[in-house]
Amino acid sequence: MKWWQTAVFYQIYPRSFCDGNGDGIGDFKGMISKLDYLKELGIGAVWLSPHYPSPNVDCGYDVADYCDVAPEYGTLADFDQFLEGCHQRGIRVVLDMVLNHTSDQHAWFIESRSSCSNPKRDWYVWKKAKNGQAPNNWDSTFGGSAWEWDEKTQEYYYHYFFKEQPDLNWHNPEVRRAMWNVVRFWLDRGVDGFRLDAVGTIFEREDWADQDSGLDQDELYRRSRKVRTPEDFFGVMADFDAIFHNQYDQPGVHELMKELRQVVDEYADRVLIGETDSLSFYGSGDDELQLVFNFPLMRLEHLTPENVRGNQNERLPELPPGAWPCNTLGNHDSPRMLNRYGDGIHDEAIARVNLAVLLGLKGTPVLYNGEEIGMSDYLFSDPMQFRDSLALRYFELDKRVMGSAPEQAAQVGAHEGRDKCRTPHQWSNAPQAGFCPPPVTPWLPVNPNFSAGINVADQEKDKHSLLSYYRRIMNARQSNKALLQGDYQDIPSQDVNVLIYSRSIEDQRVICMQNMSDKVC
Ligand code: NOJ
Repeated sequence: MKWWQTAVFYQIYPRSFCDGNGDGIGDFKGMISKLDYLKELGIGAVWLSPHYPSPNVDCGYDVADYCDVAPEYGTLADFDQFLEGCHQRGIRVVLDMVLNHTSDQHAWFIESRSSCSNPKRDWYVWKKAKNGQAPNNWDSTFGGSAWEWDEKTQEYYYHYFFKEQPDLNWHNPEVRRAMWNVVRFWLDRGVDGFRLDAVGTIFEREDWADQDSGLDQDELYRRSRKVRTPEDFFGVMADFDAIFHNQYDQPGVHELMKELRQVVDEYADRVLIGETDSLSFYGSGDDELQLVFNFPLMRLEHLTPENVRGNQNERLPELPPGAWPCNTLGNHDSPRMLNRYGDGIHDEAIARVNLAVLLGLKGTPVLYNGEEIGMSDYLFSDPMQFRDSLALRYFELDKRVMGSAPEQAAQVGAHEGRDKCRTPHQWSNAPQAGFCPPPVTPWLPVNPNFSAGINVADQEKDKHSLLSYYRRIMNARQSNKALLQGDYQDIPSQDVNVLIYSRSIEDQRVICMQNMSDKVC
């Protein structure tokens, strides 16, 4: 077994984890001060969301320099200290690697946009206007056209995400070389792998033909606001696909992943994890990415025995031979698991069962920082406090498309945006939840529920707390070979509320029974 099959991963969102220098922003000094906390939690690997210099139009997913540390997070020396501290404690470190696009402030793009004859011009996707308009009718998934006009050089560049995130041209071998050198830069420093951001979006349909869905994003938004049932939701997903299918999962991406895998395999024992829905990124099972998130599990409206079983029975047989599953229930882009699956009455009990499910299923579990103490979404609705550009986008969209009043649109922005799940980690019942010194204003407001026991210090003192439960059950998982490595076998249950399955290996068989209701069974 490989370490990345048995370790529990823990995603750290660096801006919100712990402020070590008192500027209201999380940083490496803060993370270093919490290494023992991570160790005690029982995790085996950290996935660090982007820590690179960035103008933060997309909270770090707009990278301005791949080979450095954002000044507000510290220095490369701080990074090295963090990495070493993790390794000393047996914790691996996986970085976020954003391949599809850079920031428009990256030196590569600044050069590229400086003139049509610049040697880096072709590092990005530039096209001439067509009849005085954008080259085609494609949209950016973050709103508006996917094309941005550059006044100086009189051409358009392509961006799947915000206009400040221009897409790299991966057809250009110099781009590949430069990026693989970035990958080597971090592997040489000792990192254990990468979570690959938005891998599906790297290539576009080669003929750049218009999309002909007849739908536009305003209509998509109107439809998404009417979603009430899972069927409505799948309908909106299908509409999304109709608009954007030319812009992701296009030919070329698997050859590219194989190339990257070879680069990573120059080093011993490293891992690649794909942010994608498509199982095709496992390749043959051993030549592309080792792990692909099981997002369909995370997107289930509720975790019930029926739909967890459905997810497993559908997904596991689809994996190529040798491929290993990877399960998660939340991340920095989605509602916190407490809110997503909670019923408002038994939220914590549901969270406990859900963790048992996550750790019981076959595959590598990935936790999102804060879930271990039951942090929940914080829906602050003053647009002045929004830091996620998507929250602002939804605020504007709701006013324009739905005709909503600003107050109502602000609530939509809070709900649809991602600030809600990125608020500072709640360390104690001290002002600002111990995230930063009290007089300092944190970069995002702290969820006030820190004073009601949703904080690390209080829960450490209570052996019945959610945090204590996390520690115990993580420990139980790590000490049972069958739970770590065993095959999954569905076991029929007489009670619809109870999920039963076994995990078996050689001489050990563990039967997991999870009552996913408030009824005694
Ligand atoms: C996926 C990341 O998780 C998300 O936060 C980001 O906005 C997009 N990719 C673009 O990089």
